[in-house]
Amino acid sequence: MSLQDFLSTLDGLEEEASAAFQNASDSDALEVARVRYLGQKSGALRDVQKRMGSIDKADRKTAGMRLNQFKSNVQTTFDGAKERLSGVASTGVDPTFDPSLPGSRPSIGHVHPVTQTITHLMEIMGRMGFEAAEGPEVEDPWHNFVALNIPEDHPARDPLDNFYLATAKNGSGDRTIEGSQLLRSQTSTVQIRVMENKQPPIRVISLGRVYRPDAPDATHFPMFHQMEGLLVDKHVTMANLKTVLRVFATNYLGDDVEIRFRPSFFPFTEPSVEVDFHWNGAWIEFGGAGMVDPAVFEAVGYDPEVYSGFAFGLGVERLCMRRHGITDIRDLYSGDLRFLQQF
Ligand code: DAH
Repeated sequence: MSLQDFLSTLDGLEEEASAAFQNASDSDALEVARVRYLGQKSGALRDVQKRMGSIDKADRKTAGMRLNQFKSNVQTTFDGAKERLSGVASTGVDPTFDPSLPGSRPSIGHVHPVTQTITHLMEIMGRMGFEAAEGPEVEDPWHNFVALNIPEDHPARDPLDNFYLATAKNGSGDRTIEGSQLLRSQTSTVQIRVMENKQPPIRVISLGRVYRPDAPDATHFPMFHQMEGLLVDKHVTMANLKTVLRVFATNYLGDDVEIRFRPSFFPFTEPSVEVDFHWNGAWIEFGGAGMVDPAVFEAVGYDPEVYSGFAFGLGVERLCMRRHGITDIRDLYSGDLRFLQQF
């Protein structure tokens, strides 16, 4: 082989090998390239080296020097490629990862305080034999008003106090909304749904969302929860109502809780009362209650001469807030984990 051929073969090989090392996309590919060009047994370098013997003696020194230069150049490119690939891609391990650092715990979600309260209330009432009942949140006027003895012209049906889904009398400018569905404004709807489907004796509670277009402040929110109770049987009295609510209050808030009824009015109960609990030095109103109005029994086809019953509706957020010392209902629905994680 002539010196000329030897040198140009090395030039070509050097270019080829360098490109192969530089383009290797991971350490496996780099190793394949290394074996191809520099491998001891069958690499391209080895083939070239073998040809040294066929070069004129006078030219061997030049050839040898070029060969050493070739080796050192190619080795440098190889080392560079190796270093480039020694990071994440080649080993799957981030070289900046420090296994001795303390880990960060994945944050595990938990049950919202209002949901915790609902579970707790159902458990307390369940021990007194009250079964859970449910009704839809989108209601019709029959269940939200009519069957509950709330007549057409009653202020509780005002569109400004309810979330109606549509105005029935389109374009007439008439604000009456009979026939229009709405987001239920009270869980008393469930009383009707239960009595329509079942004969006495009845002992149910219903815990769920209700909706009213109130501007949010510390004690109001357009969506909140109520616990509705209904007990229907023969010879039910107001004393039964008070006993059930007292047992409930002492179980939920503590043995030192007192209960007070104040005369009130609800269309679906007669007589009607506001329910206050005395706890931590103050009387607080928690909801309404009363003896089921005969008009309600008639609406669901019960004989008011035979059956009597009581009903009550308490604010779930108010109970939850009292028990946990929460002062602003908006905190419950802000979605702020710093607040929610405390429960
Ligand atoms: N539905 C009433 C409200 O939302 C609360 C209520 C009062 C429920 C008296 C009752 C009841 O069952 O008997 O203000």
